Parts: sequence; structure tokens; C-alpha cells
Amino acid sequence: MAGNAAYDWDAFDSEDYLEHNYAELHDEDRHILNVVRDFLCSQSFDPEARGVDVGTGTNLYPALAMLPFCQDISLLEFSGANRDWLFRQINRFSANWDAFWRVLAEQDTYRAIVEPRDRLRRRATVRKWDILESVTEEKWDVGTMFFVAESITTFREEFTTSLGRFCALLKPGAPFAMTFMENSQGYEVGGRAFPALGIDVADVREEMWGLGNGLEFHRVDVGSQPLRDGYSGMILVHGHVK
Ligand SMILES: C[S@@+](CC[C@H](N)C(=O)[O-])C[C@H]1O[C@@H](n2cnc3c(N)ncnc32)[C@H](O)[C@@H]1O
Repeated sequence: MAGNAAYDWDAFDSEDYLEHNYAELHDEDRHILNVVRDFLCSQSFDPEARGVDVGTGTNLYPALAMLPFCQDISLLEFSGANRDWLFRQINRFSANWDAFWRVLAEQDTYRAIVEPRDRLRRRATVRKWDILESVTEEKWDVGTMFFVAESITTFREEFTTSLGRFCALLKPGAPFAMTFMENSQGYEVGGRAFPALGIDVADVREEMWGLGNGLEFHRVDVGSQPLRDGYSGMILVHGHVK
């Protein structure tokens, strides 16, 4: 058992994580993209809306999902290695993300963005952030946090804190989407072990009922080719912050 601080997040091998998870579009991510896209398209946003993605790592698709709706998107990341990767990718994202964008562009709102690379470069910023410690008065209009709360610790209290701090970054009523690995036993990146807390839909429900309204839960089965051993599926929740 170990908490977030016991791991060397600056030694996170960004390229290895990307290669393993996002070099190609997997069925689970396609499913999640479809649901998040349709959820965000059903919301109304202020023209000045600002988005936030927490623990972005080397996953650009939550930011791409928010792109049509936000004047700026803050990518909050603790790991220096992942921040360096993000600075490079924001400048011009790699071809692997085109498959993810194509799923989003099945909706007109996304298709209307002719140059998503230019749009992301102009609108995204990267910031060092510790979801367990950092505090701000700033509030965002829409937010995402994918595979973070359960995948940065084995401690239940830190899982709970991450969810509370994430929701506290958003304005009351703001739409959000979060994803989780279900029953994960931890994961390896570049030969280095990283932690996870084994949670299921009931755990997410229990944590979120006091934090969100209009919550919808989705469970995504592991596909025919699971990304890694030691998890049983993915969980997606979306709703509005209380
Ligand atoms: C399993 S990865 C998920 C990355 C990405 N969001 C995705 O969907 O694949 C966990 C991420 O959380 C970041 N992280 C670890 N500890 C954190 C903390 N205390 N605050 C914010 N992010 C943290 C890691 O650097 C990593 O990018």
C-alpha cells in the first residue's frame, strides 16, 4: 500500500504510456469519446467558457472533446515528463490523434473546426498541478479528469480527495466527465510500477452523489484486446457539479 507521494511521477515514461494506450484508437476509448462528445454537445456554453483537464498525462482526447466549447483549456499535470510531452504536442499534435478527432468530428460542432491542431495550440495551456495539494480561487466552466483519481494512489482517502478537489475547480452547475479503471491492480510504465486503487461503479457512485447532479454512469467492458492485465473494465461518469 502506498500513497501518491511514494511514486516518482517525474520519471513517468510518457512515450511508453502513449505507445501502450493511445498510439491507436481502442474500442473502449471510442465508446468513451462517443458518450462524452454527445454529452458535451447537449450542453449550452458561454462563448467565453474555460475548460480544465486534470492529470492530462499523454492523453489529448479529453482536451479535444472540450475544444469547440472553450476559449481556453488548462491542462493541469503533476509530472514534469508529461508536461514536457504536452508542451511539444500542443504545439502540433501527432497523427495518432487524428483517429480520435474523427470520432468527435462525426458531430457538426467538431467538424466545423477545420484545423484542430491550430485551435489546440492557440487555446491550450499547461500548468504544474497537484490535485491532492494545489488550491486556487479560479473556477472553470467545464472539466475532465481521466484515469487519475484511482490511478495515482492505493489510498482511498486520496481517491476521495482527488474527486472533491476536481469538483471544487469547477463552477456550480458546470458539466464534467471523469473516467476510471475498474478493479485495477496498478500498472507499469516503462518498466516502472505505478499504483491504483481497485474501485468499481458502486465506489464512484458513493463518492460522487454528494458532489454532482444528474449523474450518469457507464461501464465499458474490456475489449477483445485488453490494454493491460489486472483490470476488469472502465467506468465513465458525467454530470454537473453541485
Ligand atoms: C494513469 S495516468 C492518466 C493520464 C491521462 N489522463 C489518461 O487519460 O491516460 C495518471 C496521471 O495522473 C498524473 N498525476 C499523478 N499524481 C498526480 C497529482 N498528485 N496531481 C495531478 N496529477 C497527478 C500522472 O502524472 C499521470 O499523468
